[in-house]
Amino acid sequence: MNITFCCTNTAPEPWLQGLRAALPGADVSLWEPGAVPADYAVVWAPPQQFFDEQGQLKAVFNIGAGVDALLKLRLPPQALIVRLDDAGMSVQMAEYVCHAVIRHFREFDAYEADTRDGKWSFRKPQERADFPVGVMGLGVLGQRVARALAQFDFPVNGWSRSHKKPGDWVTECSAQVKEEPATRAGDTEQTARSPSHPNGVMCFSGAEGFKDFLAASRVLVCLLPLTPDTRDIMNHDHLSRLRSGGYVINVARGAHLVEEDLLTLLDSGHLSGATLDVFRTEPLPAEHSFWKHPKITITPHTSARTLRSESIAQIAGKIAALQRGEPVAGMVDPRRGY
Ligand code: NAP
Ligand code: GLV
Repeated sequence: MNITFCCTNTAPEPWLQGLRAALPGADVSLWEPGAVPADYAVVWAPPQQFFDEQGQLKAVFNIGAGVDALLKLRLPPQALIVRLDDAGMSVQMAEYVCHAVIRHFREFDAYEADTRDGKWSFRKPQERADFPVGVMGLGVLGQRVARALAQFDFPVNGWSRSHKKPGDWVTECSAQVKEEPATRAGDTEQTARSPSHPNGVMCFSGAEGFKDFLAASRVLVCLLPLTPDTRDIMNHDHLSRLRSGGYVINVARGAHLVEEDLLTLLDSGHLSGATLDVFRTEPLPAEHSFWKHPKITITPHTSARTLRSESIAQIAGKIAALQRGEPVAGMVDPRRGY
């Protein structure tokens, strides 16, 4: 069995050594133009030439969760596409989003500014009930984030393409399922407009549930895959529907957010701030206004990093399973786009 490795911006040697150690029977090599065709590929942002030459691949393993860049390329039609399925990412994402929400809710930036000025000043505690958090995308990462926020007793709303019932969650948690208040859903029938509440998270779905989801949320977290349906989803119309004083956390892809619309709504005061980890152009250009905006916190696409040893163990396990003819988790549906 041959495995080829072609990952842009990634030091190859530790990956090659790790894959060889995890799959001793395999011939693992770094791709170079003209290399012999392989059975499996481990990739991140490969050039089109890679797939043009590797026409016999059985499966392509993406060393990230998002496959938007990969799906822009022409892949061999028979090749299965497999994304990283958590591999240590969801806990990082939960840390990042909870940190951003709590920093905003507890006004830690304002306290920091006060203490820097030598001021011992109290702020009136804010009501948690006034900070409902809406998580767009209830997949591997979104579910973990939603559960983590619910553990801090924030009211949490979730939105996904398909409707979620308790048994649909990737990992059930011990958080008590909250009673659904009568004012939040009158119907007992489960439709896209009558949210369910697995794991204490009020779940909305589909285009029908989107406006209700936005209206019920003040902090908006984006954990959607980038697809034609979700590009520019955080635009003026949708962000205006958040509760007044809304806050945006984008940890998915930069193209989900219409940057000018965010700036307009920050200026008008409808939005109070944003924490952004991803941008339409990365690295964020030096002249970009986000760098110095007083209401925007930025990080350099680091909210959930690919962890090498966890990823190698997962990919090696899946290659072994595919060799045995068994199904694997984390399969991408190219027609769906994620
Ligand atoms: P995932 O498991 O594929 O989950 C995607 C979720 O989005 C699912 O709940 C899906 O609904 C929902 N969704 C997709 N299209 C939708 C639509 N049109 N309307 C409503 N909901 C829709 O993805 P994941 O592993 O959680 O990762 C999410 C994204 O995070 C990745 O695609 C990647 O871009 C980004 N990411 C960023 C970083 C970083 O460091 N910043 C790290 C890792 C990942 P269903 O449940 O109905 O399918
Ligand atoms: C990172 O952005 C990923 O998609 O894994």
